[in-house]
Amino acid sequence: MESRIKSFSEYESHYGSSMQEQESYWGKIAEEFVWKKKWDKVHSGNFNDLNIKWFEGGKLNITENCLDRHLEKRGDKIAVNYEGNQPDSLKHSMTYRELHAEVCKFSNVLTDLGVKKGDRVCFYMAMVPELLVGVLATARIGAIHSVVFGGFSSQALAGRIQDSTCKILVTNDGTFRGGKHIALKGIADEALKNCPSIEKSIVVKRSFQPVEMKEGRDIWWHDQIRDASPKFDAVEMDAEDPLFILYTSGSTGQPKGLVHTCGGYMVYASQTFKNVFQVEQDDTYWCTADIGWITGHTYITYGPLLNGVSTLMFEGVPTYPDAGRFWELIEKYGVTHLYTAPTAIRALMAKGTDLVNKRNLSSLKVLGSVGEPINEEAWEWYNKNIGKENCPIVDTWWQTETGGIMITPLAGITKTKPTFATLPFPGVEPVLMDENGKEYQGNGVSGNLCLKRSWPGIARTIYGDHERYKQTYFSTYPGYYFTGDGCLRDEDGYYRITGRVDDVMNVSGHRIGTAEVEDAINMHDNVVESAIVGYPHEIKGQGIYAYIICQETPKDEALFKKEVLGKVIEVIGPIAKPDKMQVVSGLPKTRSGKIMRRILRKIAEGDTSNLGDTSTLLNPAIVDELKDGAI
Ligand code: WT7
Repeated sequence: MESRIKSFSEYESHYGSSMQEQESYWGKIAEEFVWKKKWDKVHSGNFNDLNIKWFEGGKLNITENCLDRHLEKRGDKIAVNYEGNQPDSLKHSMTYRELHAEVCKFSNVLTDLGVKKGDRVCFYMAMVPELLVGVLATARIGAIHSVVFGGFSSQALAGRIQDSTCKILVTNDGTFRGGKHIALKGIADEALKNCPSIEKSIVVKRSFQPVEMKEGRDIWWHDQIRDASPKFDAVEMDAEDPLFILYTSGSTGQPKGLVHTCGGYMVYASQTFKNVFQVEQDDTYWCTADIGWITGHTYITYGPLLNGVSTLMFEGVPTYPDAGRFWELIEKYGVTHLYTAPTAIRALMAKGTDLVNKRNLSSLKVLGSVGEPINEEAWEWYNKNIGKENCPIVDTWWQTETGGIMITPLAGITKTKPTFATLPFPGVEPVLMDENGKEYQGNGVSGNLCLKRSWPGIARTIYGDHERYKQTYFSTYPGYYFTGDGCLRDEDGYYRITGRVDDVMNVSGHRIGTAEVEDAINMHDNVVESAIVGYPHEIKGQGIYAYIICQETPKDEALFKKEVLGKVIEVIGPIAKPDKMQVVSGLPKTRSGKIMRRILRKIAEGDTSNLGDTSTLLNPAIVDELKDGAI
């Protein structure tokens, strides 16, 4: 059996053998990689013992598979095309050979700074090639990368650095996002006031704005790299050694650092990339995500490089200098595969088709969607105006925790249906749970989406807190991984993800915990309590609605709300800013003190006709006040 699936019947036989002979199935796929030593056992552990291992005893370095392996055959092939925020920036690209050399140089830099296997290196950067180089160099020396999205605040960055006690921070002087300059170094400096574990901060020049360099701590990337050797032997890693930590939000508490390991993640990233997108050797693939999210880890960095593909990396935003930027770049680079988020599609859809039709998009072969449910209107628009009804759309469902795509069409192979992520990838066994925690059998059912068996890309733990890992994912339905999503399985056995069923919002494809935003708002001196819910938002998918109880009625409500926004920006970052805020005198609570979020959600949606039973509330009268004051 070849690892590349070429037809629907091959998909069916892959799927069958992944279920019936799980170990030999994945073992065969893993044989295509370069291992320094072969594994002893393909898979062990389960969702009860939570000691999950894949390719145990195997030794490898993922960067040899991303880079060294390609040098002979495709050393001069472009690995990355780079496009900056400004449209007039020069076309800039790096071949596999050049990328390999840069990665080796930075591996030497990190090693000379005393970074060793297992140490954590944090990246707080713009989407610039040095981020890709830095991440790969970290993996090459056996250290663990933790990339923090450049839109997070200094406090959020500090929290993540502290949680995993990172030794090195790599950042930029600044970046341009649309018309705005973002002073990354300044934000990082604020964070580092509270991060004693950081020994060195390495600064990459990008915006060329003046920055302060702290003596003894801050050093320039270009100074370090200048005389570094372009040779570095990749450090031998155990298949189960950590490769990276990536923080994501949950329904409670602080963001969790999900840990992905070297062997299983590599195999899963590569295998999903290869088959979902069906990229050919001469194609140019473009994923518009940021490397600060899992999509950027698996489908900008590792997946494409493991497959020796040419990609495009873009620093800017879809609407700068105008909403035609994506279409311009597709034409400029001859992009064949576009992988983006529904929120971007909806935002561009709102601008009409003039800018689209100005460009030649005939290079496109496959369109992808990720991060949130795609509504039918956006799906149809994408299909008609971008794909010209000639490009399969792969609506890919997965999560930070899953490491790679889980439920998805295979491009050109699986028959698609708007708003459906369709069928499970080989190795993935989705089940839907009923109210009693039992699996639904058969089709035409909706329930909570769980995964019944382990796959190579699953996150192995939460950094420093294995107990929380067990609690969060495996306690709701013992023996199953619970995704937090609701899901429909239709008469054809096709899956449609309907959205989160826990207290997690999905705002413009970004995952944000309601508790996190509440904690931030509660830090305002005049706030007693707050409750956050998501509500349907035309562009963002979900907007953030805040109900806030004040200590004293604010004299100037507009000013108060501005201060609250300021708090959220300070504690988390602009992505978590509430869209609507309502000052209230109380919240609907049950006698046991639990906030009835169902009611808050209805009011935020503007649907107050049927609020259900409110008689069990401690304070039923509050409901009318909330309704009357709804924004
Ligand atoms: C949550 C995971 C997967 C990488 C980006 C987000 C939602 C993701 C889809 C999709 C419907 C989707 C889910 C999931 N989600 N993809 N194709 N259709 N919903 O990763 O930040 O870990 O968020 O995003 O609710 O649980 P993440």
